[in-house]
Amino acid sequence: MTIENDLFLRACRYEQTDRSPVWLMRQAGRYLPEYQKTRAKAGNFMGLATNPDYAAEVTLQPLDRYDLDAAILFSDILTIPDAMGLGLSFVNGEGPQFSHPLNTETAVKNLVEADMAKLDYVFNAVKTIKKSLLRNGQQRVPLIGFSGSPWTLACYMIEGSGSKDFINTKKMLYNRPDLLQRILDINIKSVTQYLELQIEAGVEAVMIFDTWGGMLSTQDYLKYSLEPMSRIIKEIKSVKKYESVPIILFTKGGSGWLHAMSTSNADVIGLDWTIDLKVARETLSNTGKNLAIQGNLDPLILLANPKEIEKRVHDSMLNLAEAKIANNNPLQGHIFNLGHGINLATPPENVQTLIEAVRTASTQVRLHQ
Ligand code: CP3
Repeated sequence: MTIENDLFLRACRYEQTDRSPVWLMRQAGRYLPEYQKTRAKAGNFMGLATNPDYAAEVTLQPLDRYDLDAAILFSDILTIPDAMGLGLSFVNGEGPQFSHPLNTETAVKNLVEADMAKLDYVFNAVKTIKKSLLRNGQQRVPLIGFSGSPWTLACYMIEGSGSKDFINTKKMLYNRPDLLQRILDINIKSVTQYLELQIEAGVEAVMIFDTWGGMLSTQDYLKYSLEPMSRIIKEIKSVKKYESVPIILFTKGGSGWLHAMSTSNADVIGLDWTIDLKVARETLSNTGKNLAIQGNLDPLILLANPKEIEKRVHDSMLNLAEAKIANNNPLQGHIFNLGHGINLATPPENVQTLIEAVRTASTQVRLHQ
């Protein structure tokens, strides 16, 4: 199957592109009225995610509104612990909750790998989305699959819900690292299988969301977050047919660890807004690897006025263009995104402004080089 617009994949592979491709984390979601409508039909979030037709419908909604260069599978990172039997539900306004969290030693000892058959709805959603992306015999844009990182999944599994500080998880890390390691080892196997099956079902790239890696000390980040992610990437890349599938690694709050991340074998490093693109590009370039970068505007810029949004996009592209790196163009391998997911309060018309600004600014900086 050929892809009509493969700009995103080319940027993942560090190729020259005429402009930076753009997609946005959480591009499908509650800020869109059409999402709210489909969600109401489905009853709740899991009703949406477990029905391939609904999942395809909401995946396509942002692509029908905006000129985006990639689609992302509509699902959630917490499907894995759900398929381990932890019992996921989304309570309205309260976020995710597990009915069987890992809050005792026995619960950790009884934990088993996710049953991939229980995740068939995800792989079926991928297949349905791929069909919906077809236009005149071509796939409109690439489809990104994803998973949470073993550490980020462990945070929710231990706590049983979201948290400000994940106290119970940190307590386990410091007092019973053996139990944490057991959870991580199981998560590593499940995430690897899950991503491989998403690739088998048809996704063209995968992203590992390490939302909570940034709350660790450097020592613990390397051991409990980066090492598990590196093992997953190594495993996937060791399979010939998956070798060329780009892997994006995103640790929110991870700007200080770019050098370490570059050793993970990921193809693309996702960046939050606490680092500027120029510094990130130069730091990664100094590792001697050609790593693509993805990011990184503060998602709340979308709550500003259109002029300010345009200015911030232009500033960001000019900043990247200033990076001094050996042999390569600093704009090569840049994927425009936010530094985290779109906020619920985002006016949809501001997303339009942002995307148009990215097209203009990222083309202009290349022309003026
Ligand atoms: O990016 C996309 O458009 C793809 C879909 C996607 C969702 N969740 C849909 C979703 C992706 C990639 C995720 C990842 C995810 N889920 C992460 C990692 C990235 C990040 O944002 O940090 C995390 C930590 C989760 C866990 C999660 N899922 C939480 C904490 C919540 C509740 C908070 C909230 O925003 O409501 C969810 C629910 C969820 N996942 C929603 C969506 C669109 C909202 C559910 C609803 O419709 O009520």
